[in-house]
Amino acid sequence: MRAVTLALCALSVHASWTRKLQKRGGAARACQEEPSLTSVPKAFDRDECARILALFEEAKEEVDRRDAMGISRRNRWLPRDKWDSVRWVVERMLKRLPSLPQMDAENFLERHVEFVLLHEFREGDFFDWHVDSKPDDGKMRTQNVNVVLSSATDFEGGALQVGSANASLQLGDLHAYPAALPHKVHDITKGRRYTLVVATRGTIEGYWAAALRDYERLARELGEEHPKLHWILGEHLESIERPEEARRAFAASYRATPQKPQYARKFADDAAEKHAAGDLRGAAEDLGMATLVEPDDAEYRVDLGVVLWRLGDFVGAEEQLRAALERGAPEAAVRAGLSLVLADAGDARGAAAERDRAMAAGADDAAAAFEALEGLRGGGGT
Ligand SMILES: *[C@@H]1O[C@H](CO)[C@@H](O)[C@H](O)[C@H]1NC(C)=O
Repeated sequence: MRAVTLALCALSVHASWTRKLQKRGGAARACQEEPSLTSVPKAFDRDECARILALFEEAKEEVDRRDAMGISRRNRWLPRDKWDSVRWVVERMLKRLPSLPQMDAENFLERHVEFVLLHEFREGDFFDWHVDSKPDDGKMRTQNVNVVLSSATDFEGGALQVGSANASLQLGDLHAYPAALPHKVHDITKGRRYTLVVATRGTIEGYWAAALRDYERLARELGEEHPKLHWILGEHLESIERPEEARRAFAASYRATPQKPQYARKFADDAAEKHAAGDLRGAAEDLGMATLVEPDDAEYRVDLGVVLWRLGDFVGAEEQLRAALERGAPEAAVRAGLSLVLADAGDARGAAAERDRAMAAGADDAAAAFEALEGLRGGGGT
């Protein structure tokens, strides 16, 4: 049953993808099978919210501004020796969120709480897409539990987006979601926005498998609009030792940004430096990224074909050179390269045919290419 549902979901997501964005939300949301955001409206009343805020009056304010990481916020941590004062808050959370491990609040604080934090966002602040948990970080963060401590009229902007959904931001609203699920605080455009953050830890069976499904789904659904979601998927794949898929996810992230030509160019330039220094593997890796970021660029594929040829990967080299031809690379030079690749692969007849075609396409260009490539062959470097 489950498998059937999944297959249907995959189909409808794919179909809606090709039919473009407006269909995307509906189909995908209906198929979403991971428990993501759980919300309890008005779990705390106005006075209770004021009491929670007051707990942090003496806590030291820490301005956390790291633009490169998309972070601009103020933190106030509740010292551990003050945790007794939030026991009643945790009690309420446990009562309203049955999915939390049920026990008395004191035990829960002791065994399952990583930290208690007040988040403040002022005008101009934000917290870009991120996750709070990685399989190998040793923290075992599980659920993030938040309480909204500002009235909706106290601030503008500042939506809390958890995966593909936005959380309600009314005073006293309680939210829980996996720390590993990508989330984001949109720009605050006015006022101040306070939330209580209780970070919990533990072990949940299937947690990372569910997280991976979420990363893949979010990258697919929202990645073109939010390149960071591809990046988060890539970092996760890297951490579970799936480097080839990680590279593809990183490339998708670059590809989804307006600067994609510059990124591809940077990879190609780095590759040229490595190639010149004799680091053929490094050059192949960078050119591989350049071709993933700009798949239709003929030049990057020619360069990659040449490097693969020098590395002795004749199948890969032929594939790249033929792909370059299809994308309009100069025929005489590329066919000259192909003839050398085929000759080295032991296909004398194919090599002769490509040589003839190269000469027919432009004898001077072909001759120049042969000379340059033979020079590289002699140059060693492996
Ligand atoms: C969440 O809010 C942000 C900021 O207002 C908006 O850009 C985004 O489209 C919203 N997402 C959803 C799923 O409604």
